[in-house]
Amino acid sequence: MAELAPLDETITLEDLDRDPFPIYRRLRAEAPVCRVKAAGRTLLTKAADTKYVKDHPEIFSSDDPNTPMKRAFWAHTLMRKDGEAHLRERMAMAPAFAPKVIQTEWMPRYQKIAEDYVARLPKGEVVDLFAVLSGAYAARGLAILLGMEEASDEDMMEWSQALIEGAGNFGWRDAPFERADRANEGIHALLDRLQDRHRAEPNPSAFSAMLNADDPIEEKQIYSNIKIAIGGGINEPRDALNTTLYGLLTNPDQLEEVKRKGDWVKAFEEGIRWVAPISASSRLVTEDTEIRGHLIPKGDTVMTIQASANRDEDVVSDGEAFNVYRTDCLHQSFGNGPHFCQGTHVARRAVGVIMLPALFDRFPNMTIPDTDAVIWRGFGFRGPVEIPVLLQ
Ligand code: HEM
Repeated sequence: MAELAPLDETITLEDLDRDPFPIYRRLRAEAPVCRVKAAGRTLLTKAADTKYVKDHPEIFSSDDPNTPMKRAFWAHTLMRKDGEAHLRERMAMAPAFAPKVIQTEWMPRYQKIAEDYVARLPKGEVVDLFAVLSGAYAARGLAILLGMEEASDEDMMEWSQALIEGAGNFGWRDAPFERADRANEGIHALLDRLQDRHRAEPNPSAFSAMLNADDPIEEKQIYSNIKIAIGGGINEPRDALNTTLYGLLTNPDQLEEVKRKGDWVKAFEEGIRWVAPISASSRLVTEDTEIRGHLIPKGDTVMTIQASANRDEDVVSDGEAFNVYRTDCLHQSFGNGPHFCQGTHVARRAVGVIMLPALFDRFPNMTIPDTDAVIWRGFGFRGPVEIPVLLQ
């Protein structure tokens, strides 16, 4: 009988939040399957293992009752379902993510938002792009795509943050759940108000597509999946944009080449490889199994660390470095298997095709005056939380 994976009692959640990458490097070398006490989970840090887990939902279920997500979202979202139940709900939202709809409906709107939001930034000043641009841009586009334009950028960002913090409230403290409750109340009130209009005037938004489907899913699930899109569709493009900007502005040679060749999508892909906005995902083990010779018992929760997989020496050379022109940018930042990110094409276009060139067009000589003033945070989700940039 195989033995359990080694137990680590030294790693703290604070260390992982501050800078997880040296820890991941060590784990990949010494204990690629490791029970990390502080996380209460078995961390998988090698690319082959993270992909294997996500590609085998029959052993590694998304339906983990031990996560606080259900409490935070007032329901089980599609992200926490498997098989047919998951597919049915994912398909309900799919019309809003069809390539043609993205191209003809959403991208012209994102283009206009990008122009407006970049135009209002002050020239010649140092501003924190996290605070004034990245989140608001993602929020406005998402509000339109989901069919809830009436929500302000501030509402959308607060709801997103509250839901994410509630879903990550592994200490089961009251305050994050109370904040998530307020977000749920705000979202439900707005969706209740908008229902009649979307029914009377069907349109390509996700809410309208779900309400007007031939065989609609339950209203409670429509609401919970709008909520998962709010939780999953703002912070990640925001962090992707800020991370890519940091990578480009601290590597001026690469930036020049990107500008010359218009390789903005390549830069975006490298940005999210380098620092995965969703760094970790949980899966519940449904039967005794083995990974790398270690027993992974039924009932255990494994955590796939895609942030580490993306830098795994077995698949990428010099993975710790930001390099737009690497030839091996095979990242797992959008996940794998049935839960592969539904917003991939929206995010890639919104950030890579639209926002990055729009920003450099207006501020071609942007710089980060003090890289120490850029603050990075996050274990489950990661990106700069402050990124002061001189706009010129
Ligand atoms: C760079 C930006 C983004 C990144 C890195 C990202 C990453 C991810 C990842 C890793 C997952 C899978 C989680 C798991 O396996 O448990 C996921 C799922 C999902 N994402 Fe994204 N995401 C991004 C942007 C977006 C956007 C803009 C939207 C909406 C417009 C979105 C909507 C979703 C949804 C609905 C799911 C759940 C899919 C399912 O469970 O079937 N994402 N995302």
